[in-house]
Amino acid sequence: MAAVVAISSSCSLPLHSLHQQKHLTFRPITLSLPEKTVTQLTKLPIRKIPGDYGLPLIGPLKDRFDYFYNQGKNEFFKSRIQKYKSTIFRTNMPPGPFISNNPNVIVLLDGKSFPTLFDVSKVEKKDLFTGTFMPSTELTGGYRVLSYLDPSEPNHSKLKQLLFILLSSRRDHIIPKFHETYTELFETLDTEIAEKGKADLNSGNDQASFNFLAKSLYGVNPVETKLGKEAPTLIGKWVLFNLHPVLTLGLPKVLDDLILHTFRLPPGLVKKDYQKLYDFFYENSGMILNEAEKLGISRDEACHNLLFATCFNSFGGMKIIFPNMMKSIAKAGSDLHTRLRNEIRTAVNSAGNGGWKITMEKMEKMPLMKSVVYEALRIDPPIASQYGRAKHDLTIESHDAAFEVKKGEMLYGYQPFATKDPRIFTRPEEFVPDRFVGEEGEKLLKHVLWSNGPETENPTVENKQCAGKDFVVLVSRLLVTEFFLRYDTLDVDVGTSPLGAKITITSLKRA
Ligand code: HEM
Repeated sequence: MAAVVAISSSCSLPLHSLHQQKHLTFRPITLSLPEKTVTQLTKLPIRKIPGDYGLPLIGPLKDRFDYFYNQGKNEFFKSRIQKYKSTIFRTNMPPGPFISNNPNVIVLLDGKSFPTLFDVSKVEKKDLFTGTFMPSTELTGGYRVLSYLDPSEPNHSKLKQLLFILLSSRRDHIIPKFHETYTELFETLDTEIAEKGKADLNSGNDQASFNFLAKSLYGVNPVETKLGKEAPTLIGKWVLFNLHPVLTLGLPKVLDDLILHTFRLPPGLVKKDYQKLYDFFYENSGMILNEAEKLGISRDEACHNLLFATCFNSFGGMKIIFPNMMKSIAKAGSDLHTRLRNEIRTAVNSAGNGGWKITMEKMEKMPLMKSVVYEALRIDPPIASQYGRAKHDLTIESHDAAFEVKKGEMLYGYQPFATKDPRIFTRPEEFVPDRFVGEEGEKLLKHVLWSNGPETENPTVENKQCAGKDFVVLVSRLLVTEFFLRYDTLDVDVGTSPLGAKITITSLKRA
C-alpha cells in the first residue's frame, strides 16, 4: 500500500512541521546576510553569468527561431553550454514578442543548480507555470488556478488540500478502474493490429486516460453522459489555446511562428468546448465541491480547479508519459521484455494473494518494473520546463562555479539536462532498466525530478511539488504491469507530436 499511504500522508502533520522547520532554520539566515558574505560561503570560483539577451526584439526573435526551428531544443541548449563553457547562462525563452513582456531568463542546465527551482524560500512561483507568459484567465473561468499560485497565497494551500482530499478519498478505485479502462484499450489495439497490422497508441491512450480519470476520481463513465467520447478533442483544443506560445505544430516555420508565437489566440473560440467540460465536472463532483465549501472555496472556483487538475495536469501528463514510457520499453528490446514479464507474472501470481489481481503489495515486489518506470521518467521528463523568480539576491552553484543572481530575475530549467547530467548519472543518455534497483540505485532517486521536486520528497501545501506525484507513479506502474500480464513483447515506430512521442505499435505478441 506504499503509494496509497503516501497519497494520504502528503497532507499529514509531521511532513508539514518538518517543512516549516526547514524554513525556520535556514531562511532568515540567508535573508539577513549581506550579499558578499553569502558569496563567501561557496568554495567555488564566482563567475559572472555568461550570455546576453541581444538587441531588443531581434535578440528574443533570434533565440525563438533557434529554439523552435533552426536548432531545436536540445541543440539550442547544448550549443550554448559549449559556447559559454557553462551550464548556467543568460538567454531568451519563447514566446517573447509580442506575447510575453520579458523573455529574459537565466538557464540552469545541470543537476546541481536545477533544484534551486524547487526551493520556495528562494524562488517565487506566481503566474509562471507556463513560463514567461501566462494564459488568459478567461480560459479558466476567470480564476488564477492552483498551478499559477505561489505557496504564499492563501488559496494555494486550500486548493492543494482539496486535491489531496480528492485523491485520498478515491484511492480504492484507482487499481480496479485502471484495469477496466486499459483492458478496453488493449482490446482496441488487438483489433486494430489484426485488421491493419499496426495500431495508433496515442488516440486510444487519450480516450482510455480520460475515461480512467473520470471513473476513478469522479465515479462516472463519461461515455454514458452527454460528454460521450468528446473529452480528448475538447481538452486538446483548450490546451492548445493555453500553450500555443510554447508549442510548435510542425507547419512551415514562418507560418507556424506567426500563428502560434506572435499573438494570443482569442479564448472566446474555445468557450463552448470549455463549458461542456465544466458542466461535466460540476454535475459529477458534488461530494468534493461540498468539501471545497468547508475549506472556504466557492463551488465555482473549486470546479474550475478540478477541471484544470484533471484535464490539464492529469490528462495532459498521461498523454505524454504513457507513450514515452512504451517507447522506451519497446526500444529497450526483447531481453528486457522477458525479464519484466517474468518478474511481473511471478509477483502477481504469488500464492494466496488475490490470484491474478494486481495489488500495491505485489507491485512493491517488482524491483525491475519500478526501476523501469523511474528510468523512463528520468530519461524523458514529461514536463521539461520549470520556472521560478528569484525572491532575493542569490548565489547559485553549478558543478564548476558559483553565480550571483539578482532579486526579481527569472530562472529557468530545462529538465532533461539536469536528469541526464553526466556528473550525476553514468551512461546518462542510455535507458538503463536496472538503474534504480537496490540500495545504491535507490540513492539516485533524489535526482529524478519529473514532479517538480526530488522523487524522495513529497508534495505538501507549502511547496510546489506535483500534487499527483504518488498517483502518477502508481498509474505508470499499473500500465507496465497490466501490459506485461497480457503481452509478451511489442515493437513500435516513433514519431513526434506537439506533446510527447507519437507511437505506432507495429507488433504486439499476446501472452
Ligand atoms: C500525469 C503526469 C503528471 C506530470 C508529468 C505532472 C507534472 C507536474 C509538474 C512538473 C508540476 C510543477 C509545475 C511547475 O510549477 O513548474 C506539477 C504541478 C502540479 N500538478 Fe502535476 N503532473 C502530473 C499529474 C498530475 C496529477 C494526476 C495531478 C492531480 C491532482 C496533478 C496536479 C498538479 C498540481 C495541482 C500542481 C501544482 C502544485 C502546486 O501548486 O503546489 N498533476 N505537476
